[in-house]
Amino acid sequence: MNRGLRISRGSHPPVTAIYPGSFDPLTNGHLDLIRRSSGMFDKLVVAVLNNESKQPLFSVAERQDMLRDAMSGMPNVEVGTFSGLLVHYAKERGARVILRGIRAISDYEFELQMTHMNRRLEPGIETVFLMANEAYSFVSSRLVKEVFRLGGDVTGLVPPQVEQRLRQRIRGEGL
Ligand code: PNS
Repeated sequence: MNRGLRISRGSHPPVTAIYPGSFDPLTNGHLDLIRRSSGMFDKLVVAVLNNESKQPLFSVAERQDMLRDAMSGMPNVEVGTFSGLLVHYAKERGARVILRGIRAISDYEFELQMTHMNRRLEPGIETVFLMANEAYSFVSSRLVKEVFRLGGDVTGLVPPQVEQRLRQRIRGEGL
């Protein structure tokens, strides 16, 4: 388990954080954030947005599988899925913290809007931000898909099992 900074210090009640996103697909930037934050909270729920209407590349079940594969060895991390309002799901899971990552200043405006809206909807839930690891500050699921579709190499930007799924889905290899 990650032995870094711990926000929850054994004082009760335990703190559950929720890390929501599309994860279409999971990148090493997401995974780095999950690793770092898993040591800070008693429980971390990685919540995959059910956004089938946006025609994601991978189904919710596939996205959850990729997360579970990558997160073995992190016993306090669970994978969930939600549709509807994030704050409703956070309440349902007993989460008092929403966790988000910021890669660059361009992420800030949207995150600020979401934070204020979520706080208005549910003042008891606090949004906490971690700065993305600089090694992945340029990595997004959208760019990974685009680069891969156009024949570029994404090794090191996504976990190996995600790369393999991209190969199958986009290039039809290994089917
Ligand atoms: O990884 P993403 O796509 O940037 O994640 C965006 C996400 C899932 C955090 C956001 O779209 C979301 O929370 N959607 C759920 C609907 C909701 O609660 N909307 C109001 C939030 S201000």
